[in-house]
Amino acid sequence: MRKKIVAANWKMNMNVKEAKSLCKTLLPLVKTNDKTVVFCVPSIDITEVGKMLKGTNVKLGAQNMFYEEKGAYTGEISADMLLSTGVEYVIIGHSERRQIFKENDVMINKKIKKAITSGLIPIMCVGETLTQREKNETLDHIKNQLEKGLKSVSKEEIKNVVLAYEPIWAIGTGHTATSKQAEEVCAYIRKVLTEMYDKKTADEVSILYGGSVNEKNAKELFSKKNIDGGLIGGASLKPEFAEIVSA
Ligand code: PGA
Repeated sequence: MRKKIVAANWKMNMNVKEAKSLCKTLLPLVKTNDKTVVFCVPSIDITEVGKMLKGTNVKLGAQNMFYEEKGAYTGEISADMLLSTGVEYVIIGHSERRQIFKENDVMINKKIKKAITSGLIPIMCVGETLTQREKNETLDHIKNQLEKGLKSVSKEEIKNVVLAYEPIWAIGTGHTATSKQAEEVCAYIRKVLTEMYDKKTADEVSILYGGSVNEKNAKELFSKKNIDGGLIGGASLKPEFAEIVSA
C-alpha cells in the first residue's frame, strides 16, 4: 500500500507570526489517520512551526537544502541543520528553483542523494513547460528529469523518495491539469520507475500531483490510480487546505 500524502508548499509566504497563526488555524482541521500531511514551510519558520507540530499528525518539511555537509556556502541550509529542527521532508527541484535559481539536474541529483543519505525524505518535483507540452515533448522531458535527478539512487533508496508531477503551466495559474492529463503523466512516471528499478519497487513509490489543486478539483485528481496525493501551493495557505486533505 502506497502512502497517501498531502504536502503544503507555503513558498515565500508567512513571517514567523503569520506562520504560527496559520498553524493554529489549520492544525485542528487536518487531523487524519490514513494520510500523511506535511507542512513545507520557509526556513525562517521551521523552528516555531516545528514546536507547534510536535505531538500532532502533521510532519515538518522544508522547501530546499544544499548538498554539501557544511562550510562556506553563504545563504544555504544543510541537511543536518534541517534534521536538527525535526524536519522529515524536503522539496527538491521545484520548478521555481530550477527556473529562477537555475538549479540543474546535476545539482538536484546531488541534493536528492544527500537528503536520502541524511535520512530526509525528498519530494522531487518534475514537470514540463507549456511550450514542451504543445510540442508533444512532455513525456521525454519527464523521463529525462527522472533519469538525471535519480541517477545512482538505489532500489532501496527510491522507496524513501516521493515524486511530484507539477506541470509548470499549472503552477499558480489556476489552470490545473485535467485529471486525465495528470494521471497520464503520473502513470508514465511509474512506468519509467519500473524501467529504472522494477514493478514492485515502482508500485511502492508515492507520486503526487501539484499545480492549482484546490478544494474543488482535489477529489477528482486524487481518485486517479497513479495519483497518491498532492503538493499544494496557494490553497495550502487557507482553511480550504483541510478540504483537500479530506479529498
Ligand atoms: P500551486 O503551487 O498549488 O499554487 O499551483 C503548487 C506548487 O508549486 O507546489
